[in-house]
Amino acid sequence: MKKVVVYKPLPEETIEYLRSHAEVTIVDPKQPGVLIEALKDADGAIGTGVKMNAETLDGAPRLKVLSTVSVGFDAFDVNYLNGRGILLTHTPDVLTESTADTAFSLVLLTARRLAELAAYVKAGKWTKKIGEDLFGVDVHHKTLGIVGLGRIGTSVARRASLGFQMNVLYVDQGVNERAEREYGAKKVGVDELLESSDFVLLQAPLTKETRNLISTPQLKAMKRSAFLINASRGPIVDEPALVEALKDGTIAGAGLDVYVDEPLSVDSPLLKMDNVVTLPHIGSATHETRHAMNRNAAENLIGALNGTLKANMVNPEVLKR
Ligand code: DGY
Repeated sequence: MKKVVVYKPLPEETIEYLRSHAEVTIVDPKQPGVLIEALKDADGAIGTGVKMNAETLDGAPRLKVLSTVSVGFDAFDVNYLNGRGILLTHTPDVLTESTADTAFSLVLLTARRLAELAAYVKAGKWTKKIGEDLFGVDVHHKTLGIVGLGRIGTSVARRASLGFQMNVLYVDQGVNERAEREYGAKKVGVDELLESSDFVLLQAPLTKETRNLISTPQLKAMKRSAFLINASRGPIVDEPALVEALKDGTIAGAGLDVYVDEPLSVDSPLLKMDNVVTLPHIGSATHETRHAMNRNAAENLIGALNGTLKANMVNPEVLKR
């Protein structure tokens, strides 16, 4: 029987599924050394939230498959995995809709000041009819600029176009014909997107090209009335530059689900700003979606170990060797 290591809590039924196909070792990766020790004779591993690089994997000579319970795979050194012939699988489709919900929620939360005003009511401050100082701005019929029109970006475009009659601009390496045809999305250059959008929404993966993609010059290129929305990966934004831009009114506000360091430090200046909504990386965090991701990742792992997996592979080229 193949040996697999589980390095994140999984529901009992997912563990049972794994046990019906493999010998399972469950570890808590926060305990020093236990993951490296368990990987020594493992064929595969499943989990999330741990840096998977030479340091973690050099002592795992049998390893053939890593299955991440996430769509993003920036925690993995894919070049290293390619060199070792280790297949990496991920969970791209099952989380698309709930993550798009989170991203679009941030558009509404920031524009309509929903978190701030809900806190205002709970704090007992609603003692008279609210005035203009607490008004938000409209979302419908505004321009949404999406950086990265992949699965999740396209799903946000659908909400924006069909639900809120928004004008959708996008930047992407490819042309998204479906989004252009069905949601009126228009491909533009980065400069045009930044200058024309009321909401700039980041939906790109974290790579060396996208790290710090949004820094002072990009923030200055945005409208002063615009909002930056990030539900993809924190390091795509130069966080100190964003803090400055929010303080000095370069942009109107930000809606964030992700940060350079997570969990976000209680000392972060972002927490003190009324024009910033901070969520705790909840992109896909619904019962239904997290359940589906766990199951999907477990099936990816077993399918890959059995040589039957057809989709969800990050680096399928390792199989051709
Ligand atoms: C993902 O699936 O990549 C989510 O951001 C969770 O990390």
